[in-house]
Amino acid sequence: MIHLVKPARVALVLLAGFVPILRAQAPAAPPTPPPVRRGGAGAGGNYKNYDSATLERGKRTYTANCAFCHGGSAKGGESGPNLLRSITVLHDENGDLISKVVLNGRPDKGMPKFSFTPDQLADIAAFLHDGVRAAAQRGTYKILDILVGDPKAGESYFNGAGGCTSCHSVTGDLAHVGSKYDTVNLQQKIVMPRESRYGARSGPIDKGTAVTATVTLPSGEVVNGLLDHIDDFAITLIDEHGERRSFTRDDDVPKVELHDPMKGHTELLKRYTDADIHNLTAYLVTLK
Ligand code: HEC
Ligand code: HEC
Repeated sequence: MIHLVKPARVALVLLAGFVPILRAQAPAAPPTPPPVRRGGAGAGGNYKNYDSATLERGKRTYTANCAFCHGGSAKGGESGPNLLRSITVLHDENGDLISKVVLNGRPDKGMPKFSFTPDQLADIAAFLHDGVRAAAQRGTYKILDILVGDPKAGESYFNGAGGCTSCHSVTGDLAHVGSKYDTVNLQQKIVMPRESRYGARSGPIDKGTAVTATVTLPSGEVVNGLLDHIDDFAITLIDEHGERRSFTRDDDVPKVELHDPMKGHTELLKRYTDADIHNLTAYLVTLK
């Protein structure tokens, strides 16, 4: 697989750069699936592809040590939170943040510490990142079935159980949404409208979807701003004057509250069935 994919990428890069020269000579490059953007700190980049041996090892280590609390597919279990929606995991680069949590634990909160080798930690991180990718791509599978939805059922879900009207109106912000996107993109927007964004590294911050934070210092001072970075030991935000401010964290001091405008959507993801998604798409597509 890897040997096939790499030359294809090179060919695409070349084509992009030298279209006029190469188009006549080069055979058409085999279609490569479009890269998928990831959220969190790596929002500048795309999801990584891990080889199956790494994922298999990561899954085995995860299942033996973590599944008990975080669930078999890391979507949360008896006593541990959903790791595929965890800010720590989304913001992790190559295991840096996940490793800190795993090696130190959070004993007072019920997360034990483990001693793993760097290789084992990298395998676990790969397994979790691959899970995040699978969850994000959920909306892209079964695309062929996309028009099987029932618009009437979609309309009642939209106005009822889906709770969409608490944030949207079909005569307001979603008016004409059916003309704005083709069907596939519309379905994608329902599932993942825009990634929550944070981190100055990720380029310009979109205020509509940016994660903000409120830090309350022991002195009582309250600092609000756009979240730039957070891990177990520190938080950095950009305050209202555009200044970057960092604070070290020691458990709950200072108090940190995160506000994620896309939380409504990510929460909904857990509740959607495929039928709900298809029905909603079939309904929204009628809003021309
Ligand atoms: C005995 C239960 C238990 C086991 C086993 C366990 N965890 Fe946890 N884990 C927790 C709990 C509870 C939390 C939430 C702690 C908190 O509230 O800060 C947590 C938090 C985390 C977090 C941080 C999530 C976040 O967003 O802050 C990561 C990452 C994590 N665990 C990974 C793992 C991995 C990887 C393993 C296996 C090597 C593992 N955990 C094993 C209970 C467990
Ligand atoms: C808690 C608030 C909230 C809820 C509930 C909610 N959304 Fe959203 N939705 C948003 C936000 C915020 C955006 C991003 C708006 C933006 O991109 O500026 C968005 C974007 C969208 C978009 C993309 C719109 C565009 O023009 O790009 C669609 C489609 C959508 N939501 C559908 C739904 C559907 C269907 C439901 C119910 C099942 C729903 N939303 C429930 C907050 C919510």
